[in-house]
Amino acid sequence: MSSAIAAMQRPIQLLSVGCCVTMALAMLPSAYQGTLFAWHPLMLSLGFLGFMTEGIMAAVRFRPNEGTTRVAAITNHALIQCASTVCVCLGFYAIYANKNLNGKPHFRSLHGKVGLVAFALALASPALGALSFRRLGLIQKFPDSWQPRMKWLHRLISAYAYVLGMVAMQLPLPHHAVLTGLACLAWQAAVIALGGCMLYVLRGRISGRSVLPASASGPSFATPKSL
Ligand code: HEM
Ligand code: HEM
Repeated sequence: MSSAIAAMQRPIQLLSVGCCVTMALAMLPSAYQGTLFAWHPLMLSLGFLGFMTEGIMAAVRFRPNEGTTRVAAITNHALIQCASTVCVCLGFYAIYANKNLNGKPHFRSLHGKVGLVAFALALASPALGALSFRRLGLIQKFPDSWQPRMKWLHRLISAYAYVLGMVAMQLPLPHHAVLTGLACLAWQAAVIALGGCMLYVLRGRISGRSVLPASASGPSFATPKSL
C-alpha cells in the first residue's frame, strides 16, 4: 500500500468514530424515550460512516495480498460489510415505519429520493460482493470473461453507495430533532472531510492499480483470478 494511503488510515478512523459517537450522543436520549425516528440517523450513521468505512478500508488493505491471507481478509471484509448492511436496513426501516405510523407520504423530499437510491446501491453492493467472492462458489457459474467485470462492478457500486449515502445525510441537516448550530456544522464538515479522504484512497494506486478505476478497462480492472 502506498505510504500516502497508509497515512490516511488514522484520520479516516478518527473521523469515522468521531461522527458515529457524536450522532449516538445526539440521538440516544430520544431513542431511550421510545422515538422510532431517532434510530434512522443513528443506524444510518453507524452503517455508512462506521461499518462501511471500516469495511472499505479493510478491502483496500487486502488488495496487495495473495492466497489464503487474501481469502481470510475478504471474509473479514464481508463480515464487516454484513454488519453495515444490517444497520442500513434497520435505519431505513425506522424511517419507513415511522412515516407509516404518522400517515405521511413516502419519498417526497430530495433527501428521501437521494436516500432511496443510496439504500438501493447499499443493497446491490453486498450482493455483488457475494457474487465476486470465489470462496462462495457463485462467480464460477459465470463465463470467465465476465468475472473481472463483476468484481469491478462491485467496487464501483460500493463506491457510489458510499458517496451517495454521505450526500444523502447532508441534505436534511440542520434538523431540530438531530443536530443544529455549531455541532451540526462541525458534524457536516467532518463527514465531508471523511468523504474526501475516502475518495483519495479509492482513487489512489495500490500495487500499481487504483481501487476505483475510471473505466472497466485498463490495469486496475483485473484482480487475482484465483480468489
Ligand atoms: C444524519 C443522517 C440523517 C438524517 C438526520 C435523516 C433525516 C431524515 C428525515 C428527517 C426524514 C423524513 C423527511 C424526509 O422524507 O425527507 C428522512 C427520510 C428518509 N431518509 Fe434520512 N436521514 C439521514 C440519513 C439518511 C441516509 C444515509 C439515507 C440513505 C440510505 C437516508 C434515507 C432516507 C429515506 C429513503 C427517507 C424517506 C423515507 C420515506 O419516505 O419513507 N437517510 N431522513
Ligand atoms: C456494503 C457492502 C460492501 C462494500 C461497500 C464493499 C466494498 C468493497 C470495495 C471498495 C472493494 C475494493 C477493494 C479493492 O479492490 O482494493 C471490495 C472488494 C471486494 N469485496 Fe466488497 N464490499 C461490500 C460487501 C462485500 C461482501 C458482502 C462480500 C462477500 C460476501 C464482498 C467481497 C468482496 C471481494 C471478493 C472483493 C475483491 C474484489 C476484487 O478482487 O476486485 N464485499 N469491496
